[in-house]
Amino acid sequence: MTTKFTQFTANLNARRIARIVTESMPEVYRYLEKPFLVLLRCGKLALGESYLKWTVEQLREMDIDVPRLSARKPKSKHDLRLLAIANLHRKGWEYTEQELADELKLVTERNDKIFRNSPTVDMSDGLVALFESLGISTSDWSMDFQTYGSFAFRERFGVPSNTRNTLREGLIVLKGRDAIFPGKKSCDELADESAAAIERFRQSDVFAELIAEKQKRREVSASDLMRRCVKCHTDYDPEIPYIPFDQPSAVSNLLLQPTELNPNRTMMEDIVYRLGDVATEKERMPMGPIYDRKVRQDLVRYFEGLLPKDSE
Ligand code: HEC
Repeated sequence: MTTKFTQFTANLNARRIARIVTESMPEVYRYLEKPFLVLLRCGKLALGESYLKWTVEQLREMDIDVPRLSARKPKSKHDLRLLAIANLHRKGWEYTEQELADELKLVTERNDKIFRNSPTVDMSDGLVALFESLGISTSDWSMDFQTYGSFAFRERFGVPSNTRNTLREGLIVLKGRDAIFPGKKSCDELADESAAAIERFRQSDVFAELIAEKQKRREVSASDLMRRCVKCHTDYDPEIPYIPFDQPSAVSNLLLQPTELNPNRTMMEDIVYRLGDVATEKERMPMGPIYDRKVRQDLVRYFEGLLPKDSE
């Protein structure tokens, strides 16, 4: 694949993503415009401390890996000191101990604030965090079918080197230059405005509806999967062990009993295994293509809820 073609695809993708974000969900974008623009302009996920924590929790629960968010560490003392010295050097080579101490204090406070409220992220991670946490799937946003992640044109191709620029250009093509960046505000100011918008969003009906929808979807899909278990295992098909999955109390009694085919495991252990990631295609339930991990986890949780109470 040539670089030129890759850039072409990236531009196309960028316009598509910009259009989806800004036009396909106006009620949501009304609140998320600031966070989105700050992501584009400053490369920051400016959500404010508490919503940021909430987002990281949601992603973890949904098994979406955004290491830049979940495994981030504050800057070390050493790095902060180097940063302070670099700042002073910009003004001149001479500085006193006191000036260094003052600058270090400033730099430390600023970094601490950024760490808690508006971490720096990759464009694609930022979009995933901002939208997937709300149950808005980003998986079809990018037309880049060679990628394994939603917007993986960055990690797979390494070109274009600047996803943020590409997306910014995409938005400019779409909306014109003026619509994008409000005045000459600093990233710190914009981050504060973004966090305030997020707080309003969190109080809104739009937010409540999104979260309710997301919850409902999870329940539906776990019970869809459960219906498949019921269908096969209560069918009196001689090839299939009979398990009364349609009767929760009967299942409850079986969960701690050994299974037919693997008597060294309890039914609960066997279910966890068969719904897990390591089971082979034949052991997996249902056999064949693997189900979404979060749906399988939800179903495991359902069975855990059926465990006899005195077992703990
Ligand atoms: C397409 C039919 C089919 C569906 C759907 C299906 N199973 Fe099975 N199940 C089987 C067959 C066949 C076996 C025997 C597999 C083997 O030989 O390992 C089995 C075995 C099992 C066993 C082991 C039983 C024992 O006593 O050894 C458990 C537990 C189980 N299935 C749970 C589930 C759960 C939970 C679901 C839903 C997520 C499910 N199955 C969906 C056909 C099905």
